[in-house]
Formats: sequence, C-alpha cells, structure tokens
Amino acid sequence: MTGGFVSLVGAGPGDPQLLTLAAHDRLQRAELVLYDALVSIDVLALVPRAQRFYVGKRAGRASMSQDTINRLLVRAARRGRRVVRLKAGDPFVFGRGGEEALALDAAGVPFEVVPGVTAAIAAPALAGIPVTHRGAASAFVTVSGHDARAWAPVLEALPPHSATVVVMMGLRSRHDIASRLLASGWDIATPAAVLVAASTPGAQTWMGSLGDLAGRGLSADAEGEAYGDGAGTIVIGEVVRVGQQLARTLASLPREIGREPDHTDGEMTAAHAAAGRELAR
Ligand SMILES: C[S@@+](CC[C@H](N)C(=O)[O-])C[C@H]1O[C@@H](n2cnc3c(N)ncnc32)[C@H](O)[C@@H]1O
Repeated sequence: MTGGFVSLVGAGPGDPQLLTLAAHDRLQRAELVLYDALVSIDVLALVPRAQRFYVGKRAGRASMSQDTINRLLVRAARRGRRVVRLKAGDPFVFGRGGEEALALDAAGVPFEVVPGVTAAIAAPALAGIPVTHRGAASAFVTVSGHDARAWAPVLEALPPHSATVVVMMGLRSRHDIASRLLASGWDIATPAAVLVAASTPGAQTWMGSLGDLAGRGLSADAEGEAYGDGAGTIVIGEVVRVGQQLARTLASLPREIGREPDHTDGEMTAAHAAAGRELAR
C-alpha cells in the first residue's frame, strides 16, 4: 500500500450547501471521484482536479456491477490514489456503502465514512415536514419501495398511525404501498406528500392524502415520466399537516437552498461529457 485511501462520502440531496464540511474537504483533495446517478451536477462542480467516473445505476437500466465498483475502489487505492466514493444523501442509507466498506476492509484498504444529509429527512424538511413532531409522530420508519418483499413485511407489521412512513425509491410503487397501508387499517384521509428532486432548482412538492396516493389522484405532472424515474421521497403520516400549514409561508420566502446555480447548464453538460470521455478511455 502506498498511501492510497478511500472516503465513502455522502453528497446530500443535491444542493451543495447541504454537503458537510468534511465532504467538501475530501472533494477538494480527491484524485479520483466515483459517483452515482443522483449526485448532483452542482456538487460535482466543486471537484477541482480529480478524475470523475460515473458508476451509477438507474432503475431498469444496465449499470456497473457492485463487484466491479468494489474492485475499482480497491485497485485505485492500491495504486496510491486518494479516492472519493460519492453517493447521494448518506452512504449508509440505501446506498450500498456498507458493502463497499466491507469490501475495502477485506482487501486491507484504509477507508473512512463521511456521513451525508439523507434525503429521507432532508426532502420532507425542505417542504416543512418534520419526520417526528410532538403529538403527531414520535417515530419514523424508512423503507425502500423498490421491492415489495422488502417493504411489505415492515409496513404490515406497523400498527396504523404509529409512525411516520418515509418511502425512498418508491415512486413507481406508491399506489401499491398506499393500498397496502389502507388495507392494514390506515385512515384514507391520512396526509401524504411526494417530494421530488428536493433541494434542486427542479424541486416539486405534492401534498394530498393516502387515498389520493392509492388511487390515481396525483396531478398530471406527478404522474409524468419524470416522476416515474426521478428521485422522489414519499412521506405518509400526520406530520405532513405541518408542511401543509407551513406551505404558504415557505413559498413566500426567498429560497436559498435549491436556487438556480451560477453556472449555465451548457457549461456543466460539457463538464459531464468530458467526464464520460475520461471513463471511456
Ligand atoms: C438509492 S436511494 C439513495 C438514498 C440516499 N443514500 C440518501 O440517503 O438520501 C435513492 C432514493 O433517495 C431518494 N432521494 C435522493 N435524492 C433525493 C432528492 N433530492 N429528493 C427526493 N428524494 C431523493 C429517492 O427516494 C431516491 O429514489
């Protein structure tokens, strides 16, 4: 080993202002950054000199295998490079950060974990929804909506209204999840929210009821392809009422987080294309 090191870094939900100071520091010093699909272009813009490789996965599309990513991390560190493995949100929340930490450990590669601001909490928070709130919820449960075998046993074991339910990777299965909660005894009027691309200039918030979510009651926009594929977090529970109460005030205040970046999209598209050419070499 010749000084190589891997930092498993959380990039937060999108806006670079939500990076931790530690994450910013590692990006400044990195020689190689391996990043995922949901890492925002504005966060990548903060990488001054490192090679950037896209190793992300998107639902339903071919992607680099986890084994290949693990091997890339180990190989780069063994070549003495300072590597940042950059993941959206927190690396240990549905981010496979644990698998990568175990692979690095097994290979004897020194590494660290730099926690990030998870979208599970930040996406609701930015819409004024606290995941816990005195009198409304004293617990929250976060599930992946990707596979019913993962979320169904958890949600079916949850007594109705006993906790806020946060669903990640669940936009496509929102109807099934909501229907299952209703079948378990949740009230059809339970407030629910869908938060898409939180903390980015394209952020969208929908608030309605569990009944709307179970039916086809979302707006045309909410049913669009972008919602189907985009990064969205669902929140179900009484806490959504807090967001409903705060919505007008939040909308009237100047927005600092998620404002348009200074660079143009064209510049960043060019930067991404350059990163892709590096990867292909
Ligand atoms: C593979 S999981 C990664 C979660 C990430 N490690 C975290 O802690 O936020 C991807 C899911 O995170 C959620 N997500 C990530 N960024 C988001 C954002 N800016 N707004 C809303 N949800 C987001 C969505 O549910 C998305 O499907």
